[in-house]
Amino acid sequence: MTVSAHRGEILHCLDDPRDHGEQAWQYFEDGLLIVEDGHIGACGEARRLLSGLADSTEIHQHANGLILPGFIDTHIHYPQCEIIAAYGTQLIDWLQRYAFPAESKFEDPNTAAATADFFLDELLRNGTTTALVFGTVHPQSVDAFFEAATRRNLRMICGKVMMDRNAPEVLCDTPQTSYADSKALINRWHEKGRLGYAITPRFAPTSSSAQLHMAGRLLKEHPTVHVHSHLSENKKECQWVGELFPQCKDYLDVYEQHGLLGRRSVFAHGIHLSDREWRRLQESESNLAFCPTSNLFIGSGLFNLNKADDYNVKVGLGTDVGGGDSFSLLRTINEAYKVQQLQAYNLAPIRSLFLATLGGATALDLQGVIGNFETGKEADFIVLDYYATPLINFRITKCKNLMEKLFVMQMLGDDRAIRETWIMGQKKFAR
Ligand code: GUN
Ligand code: ZN
Repeated sequence: MTVSAHRGEILHCLDDPRDHGEQAWQYFEDGLLIVEDGHIGACGEARRLLSGLADSTEIHQHANGLILPGFIDTHIHYPQCEIIAAYGTQLIDWLQRYAFPAESKFEDPNTAAATADFFLDELLRNGTTTALVFGTVHPQSVDAFFEAATRRNLRMICGKVMMDRNAPEVLCDTPQTSYADSKALINRWHEKGRLGYAITPRFAPTSSSAQLHMAGRLLKEHPTVHVHSHLSENKKECQWVGELFPQCKDYLDVYEQHGLLGRRSVFAHGIHLSDREWRRLQESESNLAFCPTSNLFIGSGLFNLNKADDYNVKVGLGTDVGGGDSFSLLRTINEAYKVQQLQAYNLAPIRSLFLATLGGATALDLQGVIGNFETGKEADFIVLDYYATPLINFRITKCKNLMEKLFVMQMLGDDRAIRETWIMGQKKFAR
């Protein structure tokens, strides 16, 4: 067995701080994280754990930093790297003007491979160790992505976009080809090592009922895969869905009528939901990805986290790159805090940490393998740097307690605050 250890300040969540208060997290000022064959062997006070280690065990020291579980991004588009920060439009126009032209380039496997490499390195630089990722309509986009993830030993979920209408012809598949291509990808990649497949109908407006029906059939045939789509992001989009699916009660009902809700279903945004939709999300145990940078950048609206809590709907954080303008979950937490401030709701720093780690893992139904430092979980973790910038360093010296420090790192931090990223106990990024 290969054993190593990491000594420093350690913080992780055991539960949702909303429900469990101080019991929901553990902090060790002089902590030790023991990694055994890529998994967590133990996590606790250094003085308690050091004596149990063999003298030969390598101990990595992480002074002036904070060891956290790796961040989890529950909604992002890897083919949209090249259009991040594109000026001037809201959702429907943004798709036509920027997203669709960029995605049409992924017919070329070399473009897909080069972008997947860039994208995954960018995630690691930002401390993101797991993500739920959109490919394009081209199956080769998903092959390229999973090959790049395999080379880095990352836990990643991805899927081929299903889209058979209201998009450029070159980006459209059919109900039959989308079913066959998705099924072949599931057989090739799902549960291979750390990889998982997500059935990925883009959103209701770009799929016919026949195609959504095939998506539901795929889920029935492969119940351990994820479903990944968009829901109720933009007011015009919601109105359009009403016109396209007059037989459905509301936007969520489009997905429900095609058998696409469940505990492995993740819907991005969920900004303009009715109480009926909130209730059905809860009853079906479906999950939402809260994407504040995107919701602000493309002007979609303010996600109501308080309502999600009232209805007990599980929520993760998503960057939604390229609709979102940052890969950083720290920046995402910063904007999440402000979006909740505008609705007179205080998002506590420990709750934000939960959403970015164990909460994200729970929204992906992966809480058994990632999200915190419980013994046996996969050892994906990061080290935040209290010296990241002169301002952070200055501000941190004025903090009186851990929660103040955590909040300062969340509000002032970005990729520069990620000192190291470790994947299954191996260092994969260092600044
Ligand atoms: N809705 C449908 N497609 C997309 C997309 O690519 N990005 C965002 N933000 N919303 C969408
Ligand atoms: Zn999106």
